[in-house]
Amino acid sequence: MTYLPKNCTFTSEDWTRLAQYWYPIARVQDIVEKPLKAVLLDEQLVVYQAEGQIVVAKDVCPHRGVPLSLGTCDKQGVICPYHGLRFGQQGKCNRVPSSPEQPIASKLNLFTYPTIQKYGLVWTCLAQDTTQDVPHMPMWDQADTQKITCPPVDIAGFAGRQVEGFLDVAHFAWIHSGTFADPDNQFVADYTPKETPYGFEADYWSTVGNYPASENFKGTPDFKWLRHFELHVPFTATLTIHFRNQGKMVIMNAACPVSAKQTRLFAPVVKNFDLDDSEQDIIDYNIKIFEEDRLMVETQKPECLPLDLSLEAHIPADRSSIMFRRCLKKAGFSEFFLV
Ligand code: FES
Ligand SMILES: [Fe+2]
Repeated sequence: MTYLPKNCTFTSEDWTRLAQYWYPIARVQDIVEKPLKAVLLDEQLVVYQAEGQIVVAKDVCPHRGVPLSLGTCDKQGVICPYHGLRFGQQGKCNRVPSSPEQPIASKLNLFTYPTIQKYGLVWTCLAQDTTQDVPHMPMWDQADTQKITCPPVDIAGFAGRQVEGFLDVAHFAWIHSGTFADPDNQFVADYTPKETPYGFEADYWSTVGNYPASENFKGTPDFKWLRHFELHVPFTATLTIHFRNQGKMVIMNAACPVSAKQTRLFAPVVKNFDLDDSEQDIIDYNIKIFEEDRLMVETQKPECLPLDLSLEAHIPADRSSIMFRRCLKKAGFSEFFLV
């Protein structure tokens, strides 16, 4: 029988398939003195640091079932608030305060998950035997760039809908005129998404500008901006925006499906121009863009992403969104939601 978390909001087939992929659950910089709670695909997790190693485990103490995220940390790991058992690297129980001289049974070790740190994020995968990789982010490893990992944004909506919004080029003029778009520039020129081994990519050319760059890099009124999208099934996308004079900015939209109805969005950003820009300004700008999207993503009906294309009406600008649904279907997903 398939293992499913308690009160799982996904169908068991979709959950099992979703569990094969990597998702970000926290920023590395936020794993400091306290254990951090995270939820991924309805699974309750705790993230902590033990002697420099970041550990992701089920948020339940093997002794009497108390959530470890209620506890504290010291250098050797996370300490349960109830009887003080401590769990260190690889989730191993390394202290039982009430019987410090006795050997520690392996049954007291935590159930842990694989962990990778990339783009300033802690990624994990609920399947122990995955063959998937953490999605690639262009330019992140390049020298002479400015890298920022924006704080997470919580959205009361499905990750599939949120990612679809990130890929949507027809909503700029309507939703984003408070940040980068022009309400009078509504036209979407033809573009052609292409399948890739991990999902699809699309090049979209338009006169819609972006992040306010210095003189050298910002566009002129007739400048054609290239937006290169790469979608990694299921819920990670990167957008590379090409500025003037080889300026480039990459934003990763890494949606963590907390449940079928809740998403925690992580957004690392890297750019190769204006390297002294204030980090806080970049964070504020990105958060403002995601906040502009919030009302749409949280109120769409149905809340799930219907993979049967006949269930919603489409316009020519929706090529990416149609391709996104096709890729998810091809990967074997169905309707995602249990209820
Ligand atoms: S419940 Fe955690 S130490 Fe007892
Ligand atoms: Fe948007």
